[in-house]
Amino acid sequence: MTIQAVVSGLGTYAPSKVLTNHDLERIVDTNDEWILTRTGIRERHIAAPEETTTDMALRASKLALAEAELKADQLDFIIVATNTPDTLFPSTAARLQARLSSSPIPGFDLQAGCTGLIYALAMGSTLIQNGTYRRILLVGADKLSSITDYQDRTTAVLFGDAAGAMVLEAKTDTDKGVLASYLKADGRGGDLLSLPAGGSRLPASEETVRDRQHFLKMNGNETFRFAVKAMPEAVEEGLRAAGLTVDAMDLLVPHQANLRIIDAAVRRFNLDPDRVVVNIDRYGNTSVATIPLALDDARREGRLKDGNIVVLVAFGAGLTWGSNVIRWGH
Ligand code: ACO
Repeated sequence: MTIQAVVSGLGTYAPSKVLTNHDLERIVDTNDEWILTRTGIRERHIAAPEETTTDMALRASKLALAEAELKADQLDFIIVATNTPDTLFPSTAARLQARLSSSPIPGFDLQAGCTGLIYALAMGSTLIQNGTYRRILLVGADKLSSITDYQDRTTAVLFGDAAGAMVLEAKTDTDKGVLASYLKADGRGGDLLSLPAGGSRLPASEETVRDRQHFLKMNGNETFRFAVKAMPEAVEEGLRAAGLTVDAMDLLVPHQANLRIIDAAVRRFNLDPDRVVVNIDRYGNTSVATIPLALDDARREGRLKDGNIVVLVAFGAGLTWGSNVIRWGH
């Protein structure tokens, strides 16, 4: 009997504070027209100073668990994809476990840049399909505002804060679930997108703070060039691993980093806009949370139907890239 890993719950959360392009005009030398035409972003949500990645993860997780009709102590495992853990250790997964339940559920943080949720879904579905676990909570949560340099206009305009969570469950009497995943990493491009200080290579010091090395650094043009190649590759290879072609894809849910990167993929596959989810205008780039946020929006709009072949695709720091192919429903 084949065990399928189905998504039985999905929950998302974005902080209430909205930072518009016009707000940013007062912070850095930029303007609404530049941001909108170069990135597709109009506004993003920003966490309160005291609001942590775990706080956001908790809110999204509770919604996902409620939809799955599960109590937290029925979970077998927790994977939190994040690039902005509350602390390097203990893990955000352990913090989340303590907030959700008094049961000692195992879990860990997974760091794969903005591809983290794709990696988490690949790991989680494998652990279910091989019979190791039956119920896994997957979370993508990032507080990018905590590592964004609001003096650097080339990055300050791009990022927002949010969290998304999915409950993944074992089912045997269904053809729904995760069909295949495709994962890649190539560390030779690591310097294109990095957080230079605060790790063991360059521990925090007065000097690193003075030089603003504890903020995200990005080579936007090179990252863009990488992304327009990586996304189509991951879509095609993920579908190939599932024994499908682009024609079979009902909905593409791409990482929301730049509208022009998404448009390049749409043109490459000659896709009808109905088959692609875009919500970057309202959230900006929320890293590992973009895909659950986009899935949730598509569902609210009635665009995510039972039995649909859905392709999730992302790229990010590492460099990493990858995709998951899901037959939606449970
Ligand atoms: N406002 C106004 N002008 C700006 C701004 C700004 N916010 N930022 C840059 N500019 C200026 C530059 O200084 C430059 O001016 P110059 O021509 O006088 O030198 C001009 O605009 C063009 O700059 P480019 O960097 O060439 O602009 P580009 O069209 O490449 O857009 C961007 C930059 C948006 C960063 C783009 O390269 C991009 O999106 N790259 C991919 C980024 C990405 O996907 N990152 C995330 C990956 S991983 C993750 O999701 C965390």
